Amino acid sequence: MSAVQATHAIDSSAAAAAKAKQETLLTPRFYTTDFAAMDRIDVSAIRAEWDAMMSEYEGDNNHDHFQRDAAFGEEARTQMARWTPELKQEFLDFLVSSVTSEFSGCVLYNEIAKHVQNPDVKALMRFMARDESRHAGFINQSLRDFGLGLDLGDLKRTKKYTYFKPKYIFYATYLSEKIGYARYITIFRQLERHPELRFHPIFRWFERWCNDEFRHGESFALIMRAHPHLLRGGNLLWIRFFLLAVYATMYVRDHTRPMLKQAMGLDPTSYDYQVFDITTEISRQVFPISLDTDHPAFRAGLDRLFRLSERMEAAKARGGLVGRLQQAGLAVAGAATFARLYLMPVKRHALPTQVRVAPAW
Ligand SMILES: [Fe+2]
Ligand SMILES: [Fe+2]
Repeated sequence: MSAVQATHAIDSSAAAAAKAKQETLLTPRFYTTDFAAMDRIDVSAIRAEWDAMMSEYEGDNNHDHFQRDAAFGEEARTQMARWTPELKQEFLDFLVSSVTSEFSGCVLYNEIAKHVQNPDVKALMRFMARDESRHAGFINQSLRDFGLGLDLGDLKRTKKYTYFKPKYIFYATYLSEKIGYARYITIFRQLERHPELRFHPIFRWFERWCNDEFRHGESFALIMRAHPHLLRGGNLLWIRFFLLAVYATMYVRDHTRPMLKQAMGLDPTSYDYQVFDITTEISRQVFPISLDTDHPAFRAGLDRLFRLSERMEAAKARGGLVGRLQQAGLAVAGAATFARLYLMPVKRHALPTQVRVAPAW
């Protein structure tokens, strides 16, 4: 393990809680928004598709999915004995950041449900909060196997909240739900082909799990398509920004903890580009632009962001005046790289008449 990783080791429940509360560009955040504006959402333009989606939520085909049986714990214990310490740290890091981001969705959707009267929005937010609370609880049980369960009530009270205007919530949450689907389904398919590489039972839950995330994404797609001004003009610049921010964050994070993917027989770079392809294909339902992720300059830019973030970690560990100067220089270089990626030409396409797509990957 490198010195940099060692300083962030999750080896106690206090360390796990500190990790969940950490505020960096790469860690999941908690959000709050303008509830009065959320109350004014009007889905009448896409009513038929909306009602079909709401009856899927009501049908709740995953109501019995997120239960652990005795075999789960047994399988987890047997598998853990074979892990290297590095894999264990990366897996714990994955569990803590996943529980934080699932719970972040749960808190946001719950708060919106509580603060609005609009029956469409209220019902949707309640269903999504129900799903995310199951997801967070399920991951937290796996953390408890290590004695590292998070106190979600405490996290809710003490983690910092970031204010996002509703449209930023729509762009960012839509993308994070869809990319969440793409990540989980890619892992699930890989382990379906190679069950011998499934190093923890939680991955067997991913297929039905990511269908929840897919549907959450569909909800935001419908909301945005019902308000077409969010998808044109100056807002396209915001869409570009969020696409790049979400893709770049994922790339840097996955390359910072490559062992998790390697243990599943996946190369982090090809995995990430496969996830981008799926997300880009899905997002054509709502975004009239997409990033040219196959462009060599795009790929080189993401790689540079990762190298800079590695050097940033080293500069932080070094500390002192030199360390601080290095950090400042690297921050400028990172911003310039991000700006160059942002200014690259994007692909444009017309939006389909029918908004919804099926989770067919
Ligand atoms: Fe979730
Ligand atoms: Fe979700």
